[in-house]
Amino acid sequence: MNRTKLLAANWKLNKLTGEAAEFVREYAAKLPASPVPTVLLPTNTALQAVASACKESGKTPSELAFGAQNCYFQSSGAFTGEVSPEMLVDLGCRYVVLGHSERRAIFGESDDLIGLKVAAALKAGLTPIFCIGETLEERNAGKLEYVLARQVKVGLANIEEAQLDKVVVAYEPVWAIGTGVVATPEQAQAAHKYVRELLAKKNSEAAMKMQILYGGSVKPDNCYELMTQPDIDGALVGGASLKVDSLLELHKECTRASR
Ligand code: PGA
Repeated sequence: MNRTKLLAANWKLNKLTGEAAEFVREYAAKLPASPVPTVLLPTNTALQAVASACKESGKTPSELAFGAQNCYFQSSGAFTGEVSPEMLVDLGCRYVVLGHSERRAIFGESDDLIGLKVAAALKAGLTPIFCIGETLEERNAGKLEYVLARQVKVGLANIEEAQLDKVVVAYEPVWAIGTGVVATPEQAQAAHKYVRELLAKKNSEAAMKMQILYGGSVKPDNCYELMTQPDIDGALVGGASLKVDSLLELHKECTRASR
């Protein structure tokens, strides 16, 4: 099945509003025509600036879209410090990253909480980029499949079968995030294939359509090999997405891999 690829740039806790807007202007000006959309994921404080710059660029959302790195599952109320899916939609976001391993490890997010967020994001009309992945300890203990199965089961427990293909999954082995140690294409493909089998148990037709992104130390020089694996449908990139030229290179490699 020919799934379109997706390039998602997770800027994490980086870039002030002016830097984010400048990035978008430069990136959009140099972005060639391609079937591969770029999704920019700035911090919440830079979302408005990115929204305006994307609009001014004249790019369509199938070329250049944006989203947030997290949200809460409630629409409004007494939840100090949180942002709702509806608020993100209000800013023009199309995507939201949920369950990133940094949210899980540093902020203690559980599979159950992530499951509530995924359902709320979908309900609001956002495409969740639902992140899963094992730690090195878990992999070495032979628990890769067990961990992925649990994360998929609980994280997607609150959505209807018919909604499944509206979710983008990102497989990010924790040991590869920000470490420079990238999963080999074989390791990544094996995990992606397993994840697609898990999804197929829920809805086989949807599983074939769903984009499963790889994340963890993706760089321009390892991107193509990863992206040409049969079950890898794009990349979620942190460090290498922070510079315009590097993101353009990644986009070029994703485009080349989709031919
Ligand atoms: P990295 O981050 O590309 O810097 O490894 C990936 C991610 O956390 O999504």
